[in-house]
Amino acid sequence: SWRIPMLVQELATKVQQPPSRYVQPEQYHPISLRVSAETPERIPVIDLSRLLAADGGADEAIKLRLALQSWGLFLVDNHEIETSLMDDLINASREFFRQPLDEKQKCSNVIGGKNLQVEGYGNDQARFEDQTLDWSDRLHLKVEPEDERNLDLWPKHPKSFRAILQEYRMNCKRIKDCILRAMAETLGLNEDYFISQFSVKAPTFARFNYYPPCPRPDLVFGFKPHSDAGVLTILLMDKDVGGLQILRDGKWYDVPTNPHRLLINLGDYTEIMSNGIFKSPVHRAVANAEKERISLAMFHGLDPEKEIEPTADLLNEEQPARYRKLKAKEYLAGFYEHFCRGTRFIDSVK
Ligand code: SIN
Ligand code: FE2
Repeated sequence: SWRIPMLVQELATKVQQPPSRYVQPEQYHPISLRVSAETPERIPVIDLSRLLAADGGADEAIKLRLALQSWGLFLVDNHEIETSLMDDLINASREFFRQPLDEKQKCSNVIGGKNLQVEGYGNDQARFEDQTLDWSDRLHLKVEPEDERNLDLWPKHPKSFRAILQEYRMNCKRIKDCILRAMAETLGLNEDYFISQFSVKAPTFARFNYYPPCPRPDLVFGFKPHSDAGVLTILLMDKDVGGLQILRDGKWYDVPTNPHRLLINLGDYTEIMSNGIFKSPVHRAVANAEKERISLAMFHGLDPEKEIEPTADLLNEEQPARYRKLKAKEYLAGFYEHFCRGTRFIDSVK
């Protein structure tokens, strides 16, 4: 019968084999989808200090534009976040996930026997009986708007958790604004074009991903292939254990672990607003046989009532709108439905 799945962290200590609900249909087995042998160094790296340079950072802006057109993502150096803050944040998340289940359940995302609410501690949203589940648990918190924080769901342990997340989030805002400005300029738009889409109601979510070791990483996904909704995601990754892979032109690429570099990827809203000039990349996380892995994604969304559409300044007779207009809340409703089925909502927004 239909039940909310067990937390994967618990499951991982009890089973020798992933149960059938986690096993991907054969054609999706991670092992049958070969990762490109080309070196991961091909993933573009942007130097944030150069983007901000007094000379306008013209070369770096061109690099940024090429990265967003071809990959929809890049790694960031010289972002000026203290490395100790990044380490503290990953360590605080590890401490949270290491607590006994009862403690973590105080932040549970389960309401009325369902785990459909985005916020809180839990695992993959389970919508359909035949849905294949991911081998991971998550703690998902609304960070902005500040007055909409649901502090009941925020960890009380470790004690430093809130202060560290707050400081990190301020840094993410600075980095996000810097990139959004450069993005607008490189498209020939007013430099505040993207920033001005964010009202006081625009949500920022922090999602801590926890991937327990899996005895058969060849059969499951830590995180199934998807693109992110939202404008842009800032990802902080485990510095020791890799697992993130990016799809580009039909090939998968490993993202190299590199302590203290961030990964920035665009979300579907930006693909729509840029009328497809910029890509919202499909990515996935593979599981690891021996080691746990942690990552933190900061999602920058838009006011649920905000209409998302291709920017008029980028349209003309040769370049008509490739996406239809819809509200952010309509987008998210379609997004989660498709996500659980392993498909992309953006493909039906055309
Ligand atoms: C994701 O947020 O899409 C997963 C990223 C990761 O764990 O590296
Ligand atoms: Fe993602």
